Amino acid sequence: MSKFWWQDTIIYQVYLRSFNDSNNDGIGDINGVIERLDYLRDLGVDTLWISPHYDSPMDDNGYDVRDFYKVSPDYGTIEDFKNLLAEAHRRDMKIITDLVLNHTSDEHPWFEAAKDPNHPEHEKYHDFYIWQPPKYDKKGRRMRPTRWKSWFGGPVWEYNEATDEYYLHIFSKKMPDLNWRNETMRKELKAMIQWWIDLGVDGFRVDASNHLEKNWDFPDGHPGYENFSSLPKHHEYLEELGRELFRPHDLLVIGEAGGASREEALQYAGFDTTEFDMLIQFEHCWVDTDDTNTLTPGKWAKGTVDVTRIKKSFAHWLDVFKDNGWNTIYWHNHDQPRIVSHYGDDGAFHEESAKMLLYTLYMLPGTPIVYYGEEIGMTNVDYENLEDFRDVEVFTEYDNFISNGASHETAMQALRDRARDNARTPMQWNSDKYAGFSDVHPWIDVVGNKDSINVERQQSDSESILNQYKRILRLRREANIAHGHAEFYDLNDPQTFNYKITTNTHEFVVLANFKGTPLTMDIPVDLRAYSLYLSNMKTDAKRSEFKPYEARIYIKENN
Ligand code: NOJ
Repeated sequence: MSKFWWQDTIIYQVYLRSFNDSNNDGIGDINGVIERLDYLRDLGVDTLWISPHYDSPMDDNGYDVRDFYKVSPDYGTIEDFKNLLAEAHRRDMKIITDLVLNHTSDEHPWFEAAKDPNHPEHEKYHDFYIWQPPKYDKKGRRMRPTRWKSWFGGPVWEYNEATDEYYLHIFSKKMPDLNWRNETMRKELKAMIQWWIDLGVDGFRVDASNHLEKNWDFPDGHPGYENFSSLPKHHEYLEELGRELFRPHDLLVIGEAGGASREEALQYAGFDTTEFDMLIQFEHCWVDTDDTNTLTPGKWAKGTVDVTRIKKSFAHWLDVFKDNGWNTIYWHNHDQPRIVSHYGDDGAFHEESAKMLLYTLYMLPGTPIVYYGEEIGMTNVDYENLEDFRDVEVFTEYDNFISNGASHETAMQALRDRARDNARTPMQWNSDKYAGFSDVHPWIDVVGNKDSINVERQQSDSESILNQYKRILRLRREANIAHGHAEFYDLNDPQTFNYKITTNTHEFVVLANFKGTPLTMDIPVDLRAYSLYLSNMKTDAKRSEFKPYEARIYIKENN
């Protein structure tokens, strides 16, 4: 039934820095992943997406690449990487890596040459990046070319004295954007991609893939995101990569494009296009923002979770890719808070809400991406001090909050709720001092709840979150849920999350109370035809009263 291997796979995203530290330097590493391959196989996943492993000054934890051909010494050596491929393949598992093509580190040799007119290769490399001359105000003061705002909160332009120009960086200033209009630059990147394919990787997750093209007229505007997001020409670059590199090999290539329309999504990842195989979009990721908050605005403004938006988003993407492409399902990655803290409850209903989130997502068709630690319900951080955070984004945004008039406490709470570091803490393997992640103090602090939330503890409890993840992932395979047909009930209901999945062999009905308040549900099917398959608390299968976060999966054989 499947045309491609990746339609039947289950992906697990490993945030390399935080997963498992094999050499006790406080940083997760490649050998640490190898040590846990059997754990992952047992969990039921068979493709690993590894966050950037390349040599990097780590301004953005490796998304700032200094040398595309070298493994970061933080993570190991190229031999370790080859070993990871071999060990994974021996277990019938696949490895896909992050591919960062929108920018490099400012310490990449290309940029070193580009910024320095005295460098022997300046001429060649200057045009690998995006430069603009300064503007001047009436008093002759130097001004940035535009007021565009970077994704990390500050301006996109950084001045380079040696050439008297600004370079563009849509992320941190240590991540200058590459000029995709330069064919020589594209050739160099393509050679690099080919090199990793030849080494044996099974695919890529293409970082920031909708930002490759910029508006070269550089009109002013604030924040100006439309000038560096989803411009039509970036499809030409992606199509070139697909045609020359991705399609000729049996790879899984996943694009990253927030805000893609139906047409764009199909252009990226429709079955009959040559760009990607699957798409990561963010529509369901921030359905709880409070637009009236001016102190910590945007994604930082925590509001109430709009369940209807999540359901509608899932239904929409299933529809977009129905028959024409392939759906990707995931709750979150390293750029959003921990899902149980975000859409569930990391207090009194921790276990119940983590399982509710499991049932509401992972019974849907498509290829799932489980984020490390999600399978045990890892939570957001409990940090007290700004210095406990590590993410480059946190520090520019903290300053923004304070200048908006927020108090230190308000700013700290926004960080604890929404910062990316929430989802980057050490994996909680056991209750040891550093949660079994490392024997030494890790690069980022372990969350204080590691004694109650950890793998070891959950392994020995047959009804733990971890064991329910295993069960659902196994069921996905056995019942071929990836290819099932989904039908949502009550899309406009603000509290329920109910749907039916029909496969060749079964019908499953998921009924869930997505909120922390009790509910009497208007049950949309005749439950007498079904039996209860799994629930997140002791329950009477026929009851229409649902406790906070109560969720159930019902099953019936198809005849
Ligand atoms: C998207 C990645 O997921 C994020 O973590 C990173 O900061 C930016 N792209 C820049 O590479």
